[in-house]
Amino acid sequence: MTLKVGLVSLGCPKNLVDSELMLGLLQASGLKITNREQEADVLIVNTCSFIKDAKEESIKTILELAQHKKRGRCRALLVAGCLAQRYPGEMMAELPEIDAVLGTGSIPEITGVISRVLQGERVSLVGTPGYLHTAGLPKLQATPPYSAYLKIAEGCDNRCTYCIIPHLRGPYRSRDADDILAEAAGMASRGVKELNLVAQDTTRYGMDRYSRPYLHPLLERLSRLEEVAWIRLLYTYPALLNDELIQLMAGEKKICHYLDIPLQHASASVLRRMNRRGSGEESARLIEKIRTAIPDITLRTSFIVGFPGETERDFEELLGFIAHIQFDRVGIFAYSREEGTPGSELPDQVPEEVKLDRRNRAMTLQQRISRGKNRLKTGQVFTILVEGRNPKGVYFGRSEGDAPDVDGKVRFKAAAAINPGEFVKIRITSAGAYDLIGELV
Ligand code: F3S
Repeated sequence: MTLKVGLVSLGCPKNLVDSELMLGLLQASGLKITNREQEADVLIVNTCSFIKDAKEESIKTILELAQHKKRGRCRALLVAGCLAQRYPGEMMAELPEIDAVLGTGSIPEITGVISRVLQGERVSLVGTPGYLHTAGLPKLQATPPYSAYLKIAEGCDNRCTYCIIPHLRGPYRSRDADDILAEAAGMASRGVKELNLVAQDTTRYGMDRYSRPYLHPLLERLSRLEEVAWIRLLYTYPALLNDELIQLMAGEKKICHYLDIPLQHASASVLRRMNRRGSGEESARLIEKIRTAIPDITLRTSFIVGFPGETERDFEELLGFIAHIQFDRVGIFAYSREEGTPGSELPDQVPEEVKLDRRNRAMTLQQRISRGKNRLKTGQVFTILVEGRNPKGVYFGRSEGDAPDVDGKVRFKAAAAINPGEFVKIRITSAGAYDLIGELV
């Protein structure tokens, strides 16, 4: 009987791409993929360990899936990804339910590890993260058929003092541009209309492989793929968001007028302690330049509040910056003290209740801004990529200003059936802080 494998993918889209690779390899080796945990002979959790909440979610999921081993059909429970890479020894010692841990650099070994586990071995395969996937490897797309994540690089060379990811993912490694093109062309031929480019830092693409920023030429080539309508850039570190890239975004219709620029803070002293370049003034100048070149740009960013040494004055500087810039979307995170990062050793750690209070204050401010910005869209017409219809018959989809998974939706009713993946024109009739309501034009 064919073995069935189930996989739960946690964390970010970069991790999801690794999950797609594992699923593709398993399917190619003759195993059956199931999304019903209770039917699976083998269960895999692809974990995240970025911050405390993510680690807790990973552990909770592992323990939940372990129940299928105790009482159900499951014969093997594997833990892959960032938590496995970070704590392999602890996980094997403290969670006897786990049959194997597989680090971020060992993802392509998944099939062999399952065979070994099913022969009774307990496996820990965690080495230096060094692999880079290629278009030739099988992948099973886990996103809807019309939208895919395309990982253009792996690892990170930035040394932000709060972040554990460089330890978990290794140094920055750009994929070969021809190889990315080959993968994107394959996606396009299978019906993908929206390519979402991901890496820990997409603007750094090419620096290691081509000795210069190479995102701009890569985007030009991707834009020539006929079937692709939208190309979206995620995780653009501000330092390399150069004029060439901004001008290309302004002039190339297929590149979404959307940027996710994680700025992390506005106070120069907090940024310095985070080992990030720049200041609030520099970020404001960059944003002004982007908005002048691309007036309809949607801007998302993220900030960390309660970083060690952040004073009330620093925090108020951040609030002032948020109010001044008027981002469309902002993610606010309370600093998580991560062992193994320089930030965890810094003096003046901020008490938990202060962090949470600052997070709430920043979120309240941004909600008001987002609602106001959304209201300005009333009466405007947007092209919407339709994603589906809820049980009440209301369709939902996204504009080029809405990234999958993190941003809001546009909801509308339609008399005739519309398929997911189709584009329609919608006039906005009302707006909340996240979602928009509209009507078919
Ligand atoms: Fe989490 Fe690893 Fe992504 S730590 S955010 S899954 S790179």
